[in-house]
This record gives sequence, structure tokens and C-alpha cells, in this order.
Amino acid sequence: MAEQVRDPHRISGFSKFDKAQRRQWLLEHFLPGQAVDDFTFFEAGHPDLQQVVDNFSENTVANFPLPFGVAPNFVINGKTYAVPMVIEESSVVAAASSSAKYWSTRGGFHAEVIAGEKLGQLHFRWNGHPDRRATLFPELERRLSAATRELTARMEQRGGGVRGMQWKHLPAVDPQCYQLLVSFGTGDSMGANFINTVLEAYATEIERWSADSPALNEAERDLEVIMAILSNHTPNAVVRAWVSCPIEKMNLAGSGVDAADFVRRFRLAVDIACADPYRAVTHNKGIMNGVDAVVLATGNDFRAVEAAAHAFAAEGGRYRSLSRCRVVGDNFCFELTLPLSLGTVGGLTRLHPLADLSLNLLGRPDAEELMCVAAVTGLAQNFAALRSLVTTGIQRGHMKMHLHNILSSLDASAPERREAVSFFSGRTVSHHGVRQFLDKLREGGAG
Ligand code: MEV
Repeated sequence: MAEQVRDPHRISGFSKFDKAQRRQWLLEHFLPGQAVDDFTFFEAGHPDLQQVVDNFSENTVANFPLPFGVAPNFVINGKTYAVPMVIEESSVVAAASSSAKYWSTRGGFHAEVIAGEKLGQLHFRWNGHPDRRATLFPELERRLSAATRELTARMEQRGGGVRGMQWKHLPAVDPQCYQLLVSFGTGDSMGANFINTVLEAYATEIERWSADSPALNEAERDLEVIMAILSNHTPNAVVRAWVSCPIEKMNLAGSGVDAADFVRRFRLAVDIACADPYRAVTHNKGIMNGVDAVVLATGNDFRAVEAAAHAFAAEGGRYRSLSRCRVVGDNFCFELTLPLSLGTVGGLTRLHPLADLSLNLLGRPDAEELMCVAAVTGLAQNFAALRSLVTTGIQRGHMKMHLHNILSSLDASAPERREAVSFFSGRTVSHHGVRQFLDKLREGGAG
């Protein structure tokens, strides 16, 4: 039998190391030629603050910063916001800002939360006849409620709680498979912790019920909990954002494009995203550029928001645009509807100093107001992307940032940057082209 060779790249107990040991181990085993400084570069200045960041996750070895930008001039339901956005992609904050300014003189953005229901599921296998549910489950529901009274009472004080329960038989999965679908209100918190805690308490109680309820026969005592977890599909926690203005006001300064023609092309672009999934995915990605940036800036869970948005976009069995465009009489109407499960209390919202700052910047909104701001930022982003796509194309706006990123990667000095910006204005920017330009400049003769 071949002797097992110990792989030096594997380790057990990595999580038990302190941060310095983790870095050292990585340097020794994976990063020859790199130094501790490469990890500590972005360390928070204050040790207490660094501890807060380290505690967010496990096995931390460094901080990974992203740009925190602000898009001012967002008029939403008559109130002006400077919207915090955390995103690494160039042009997104610029696009949101330009869209915000454009709409600030055309009536501003409007938004409303249509519903705020969150869902959770308890799946279990039960050896009872489905018809016995009507007799047995009302008592079970009472027991589940009683077992979680203390937990839910606190949430009820904050405007949330358990709103309803629905029992489903899932014979297509397994003849004994059942689901308890629970609907929750979670006030101003995103609610994941509350929902999961309640569901896990339900899991314990349903097992107790199967063991001790006198109403059950022997076969019906055979119950096995499979899992208890919130659902990130939140088709009933939905926000709608929209803009509307007379077509004659849809002028684009300096573009030479006629307002009516712009609206016609814009509407076609949205209709294409409603009809074609390939375009819809890119179109919705543009919307999520704005939404995610606000979600991240406010310490919310962008993976949950993404999963929910794309499930919503695929409702009805076909993936389509989350936004719609209509012309009603002489008015241009553009709207976005999407599910958003956000919180302004709990989670990272206060713990992360920059999430806290973002919420201060927004005037400490409640969860519904934050849903409106995030949805509007998505709509603004979508408007800006389509405006570019149906007029100048997207690359023109990207070129400046692209040039700066390439110049940074080539360690260009401030005077070299100035020369490059002037040289590449109106020219196509490529890494190769910029390198050639800098090489010539450094040799003493660009142009
Ligand atoms: C790029 O991040 C987003 C866009 O592709 C969106 C769109 O095509 O609508 C520009």
C-alpha cells in the first residue's frame, strides 16, 4: 500500500491560531516572497476597532477595503438624500449621481413599500395521514406559539412578530414530507436571527409534541425534523420605485438626441429586457449595481437581496427585467419593483462604524425608508445605464476611470497622469496603449 504523504498545504486547527500565526503560516506555505505588511496594510488604526472588524467573521487575516462613495441630489418622495454607496466598479457612483441630478429637476423619484412580510420554513417528515392535519395541527400551532411567546413578545413590541402559519404536504418530495411555512413581521430589523431562532424553537417543540401529545396514535409519533431556516424568497416584502415626467422634458443636454426619440429608444431597450433573458440578466445586473451598493454601505446582506431579486425576476417561469417603461399620454413612466429585505437595526448596522455612518447620512431611516432609498438607487442606475446604452454607448463614460486604473497599475506620477488624460481624450484606452504611451513619455518623447 502506498505510504500517505503529508501535504504541507493542509492544516488542522487553523482557526485556533491567532491572527499573527495565521498570517505567518500562510506566508510560509502559500506566499513565498510576501511579507506581513501585505496583510496589515489596511489595518484599522485603533486596536478596539480592528477587534470589532475581526469579530465579524472567522479566520480573519486582513481587512479588504472597498470604496465608499456618495451620490448626492437624490430627491425621493420630496426629501433630498446623499446616498452612501460601497462598490468597487468604476462609473456606478458617477452614473447614480448623474441620474439623481437629472431627476431632481423633473419631479424627483417616488417609492413605496407594497408589503413587508418575511417567510421561514420548518421541514419535517411525519408518519401521519395528511387528512389528520385538520384535527391535530391546531393544537400543535397553539403549542408552537406558547413555546416562543417570550421571543415573539419582544418583537411584537417593535411592530413585528409571527403573522401566520400554513401547513403544506410535499408528496412530490416524499409521501411523508411536510412543511410549516411561517410568515413574520420583523419591524426595522432584517430579521434573519429572529426568524431562525423562532423556527429552531418550533423544531424543538414539534418534536416534544410528537413525543407527548395524547392526541397522537403510535404511527403519528414518528416525526423527524429535517431543517428550520428563513426563506430568502420574499415576494411579499416588495418595494416599488418610479419616475415620471412629460416626454418634452426628457432632453439630454449636449447629446443632440431629440427627447421623443430618446424615450422611444429607451422604452425599446426596457422592452427588450422584458422579452429576452440574456439581456434581462445584464439589465438587472445594472439595477443591482445601485441596490447592492446601498445594501453594502448600510451593513445589510447583499447575497440575500441578490437571491431574492433574481427569484422575483424569474417568477412566472421566465427571467425578465425588474423594471418597466411605459408612455402614458405624453408622459414617460419608468418603474422598478423588487423584493428587498433590509434592516436599520441589528446585524452590522450599528456594529460596523461605516454602516452606522451611512445610516446617519440617510437620517437614520426605518427599514421601509431604506428599502425606498435602495430601490430608487437601483432605478437611477438602470436609467443611467440605458441612457448611455441608447445614446453614446457605455464605454465613453467608462474610459476615464479605466484610464486612471491602468495608470495606477503602472505607477504613473501626477504629471504623467495629466499628459495621459489629455492624450487619450477621444482615443480608445487599452492597457497596451497606455503602457506604450508611458514608455515613450518616460523615454522623453510621447505623442
Ligand atoms: C455594467 O455594470 C452594467 C450594465 O451592463 C447594465 C446594462 O447593460 O443595463 C451597463
